[in-house]
Amino acid sequence: MIITVTLNPALDKTARVDVVRANALNRLRDVTLDAGGKGVNVSALIRSLGGESIAVGFWGGGAGKELQSLIAKRGLKSDFVRIAAVTRTNLKVVADDGGLTEFNEPGPRIDPDEWRELEEKLSGYGIKGNTVVLSGSLPAGLGQDTYKKLSVMLRRAGAAVFLDADGEALRYALESGPEGVPDYLKPNRYELLQYFGIPDDEGVTETKLADLCRALIGKGLKLVVLSLGEAGAIFANGNGIWRAPAVPVQVRSTVGAGDSMIGALAYGFEQGLPEERCFALAMAASAGTCTTEGTNPPLRALVDTLLTQVRIEKIAG
Ligand SMILES: Nc1ncnc2c1ncn2[C@@H]1O[C@H](COP(=O)(O)OP(=O)(O)OP(=O)(O)O)[C@@H](O)[C@H]1O
Ligand SMILES: [Mg+2]
Repeated sequence: MIITVTLNPALDKTARVDVVRANALNRLRDVTLDAGGKGVNVSALIRSLGGESIAVGFWGGGAGKELQSLIAKRGLKSDFVRIAAVTRTNLKVVADDGGLTEFNEPGPRIDPDEWRELEEKLSGYGIKGNTVVLSGSLPAGLGQDTYKKLSVMLRRAGAAVFLDADGEALRYALESGPEGVPDYLKPNRYELLQYFGIPDDEGVTETKLADLCRALIGKGLKLVVLSLGEAGAIFANGNGIWRAPAVPVQVRSTVGAGDSMIGALAYGFEQGLPEERCFALAMAASAGTCTTEGTNPPLRALVDTLLTQVRIEKIAG
């Protein structure tokens, strides 16, 4: 079973205006609500491929209740911990010229008892054969070592851990030693270079990026997938390094493309597909996500069509 964890989920409210005016009243129209959160996006992609997952996280108050019901409406299974504070609502305002203005709340504070409840829940899912996806920002009240602690606990229990984090949370998790370090990591270019403290300029060649991925494999990770937006992706594991150009698509929104990549990989591993097939599925699913509004996953039929266009090349043994 695949478990996705979203510690700081949000109720996403999207609305339209003709133009956004600062210091003035903006009358919103076409207000819609959706379940937001990186783990929820991963779960949605897995479902559209025909797989199953359980989304885990925190919910509180009326916004939390709404979030739960939207997750259920999308056909996703969830197992959230109820908290005293209220789930955040993030407002996305789209102007008629397509410009996007976002207002994101910091999210509720998690108290120690609520955290313990979540930890116990996850420890129940921490069994051999399960993959736990940890992704997204951390809520107030939880330390930057939260993903590290979860990774160590889950890996000791025999589960596989897929991490998508950045900054301090990533740094801690990668210092867990070979026993606690996550199995799978999907940084994007910015997150990888930030981790190594390398400025992002022309000096960063593909060879350099591949070397950095290899350095991460040296820390005990089983697979590093470096996503490079429209430049495609690099896959590195103990057997070699591969690169894949992005599948050309008509782009509507690239938000959540990385989450879809993770969902496709977790699904592919669970199905026992050969590694290059998993990489191809990740390229097709992430490109497909770029063709949909917001973070919506593509239909399986589109992923299958895009799969025929994926080109993966092994660049090192
Ligand atoms: N313009 C594009 N055309 C085709 N595929 C794309 C495009 N942009 C992204 N992708 C696909 O999506 C993958 C992930 O994209 P990206 O590197 O932007 O992830 P990310 O920054 O983690 O995104 P997010 O965190 O919003 O999910 C890429 O490796 C590529 O396969
Ligand atoms: Mg990302």
